[in-house]
Amino acid sequence: MITIISASTRPTDSTHGVALLFQAVLKGLNKDSRIVTPADFDLPYDGAKDPNWTDIITATDLFIIVTPEYNHSFPGRLKTLIDAEYDAYVNKKIIVCGVSSGSFGGARAVLSLLPVLHKVGFDIFPIDIFTPNVKDILENPAETEKYKARVSEILTKFVV
Ligand SMILES: Cc1cc2nc3c(=O)[nH]c(=O)nc-3n(C[C@H](O)[C@H](O)[C@H](O)COP(=O)(O)O)c2cc1C
Repeated sequence: MITIISASTRPTDSTHGVALLFQAVLKGLNKDSRIVTPADFDLPYDGAKDPNWTDIITATDLFIIVTPEYNHSFPGRLKTLIDAEYDAYVNKKIIVCGVSSGSFGGARAVLSLLPVLHKVGFDIFPIDIFTPNVKDILENPAETEKYKARVSEILTKFVV
């Protein structure tokens, strides 16, 4: 199973739209996926455990994190979700995508997330994906198609 973690929990977020584009690209590659967000789990404090999250990790072969950039990093609730498990992540393949309304495409969020993923044992794909000016990508069909083509090229190598 492929699990896409859409890491924004804001009610009006753009990250979920990007996660849906990833899901559409995967469908085109004949791969089913599910989207989860940190808000789907009962994690009231750091180090809490939700058995639903543990079950999803166990059932997942490939992870995709689509994360917004908040104050030059990734959301705290994504950190709480990652911190809810430890050994279960070891050797699971993961690819990371940053999302931003600005021109750096979430690069600073991605770069701050990678050491955390390394610490908990993920097998991190060496190509990161960046999503600058996310509103243009979501609202301009030509930009959407260009973005999906770029994502498809990378995911084709990731899902083999
Ligand atoms: C709390 C907060 C902090 C943010 N900090 C940054 C930032 O440091 N760099 C950036 O490029 N965009 C930043 N943004 C804007 C996001 O890039 C923008 O909201 C984008 O749509 C992705 O987040 P979303 O999926 O929650 O909408 C921030 C947004 C919020 C809500």
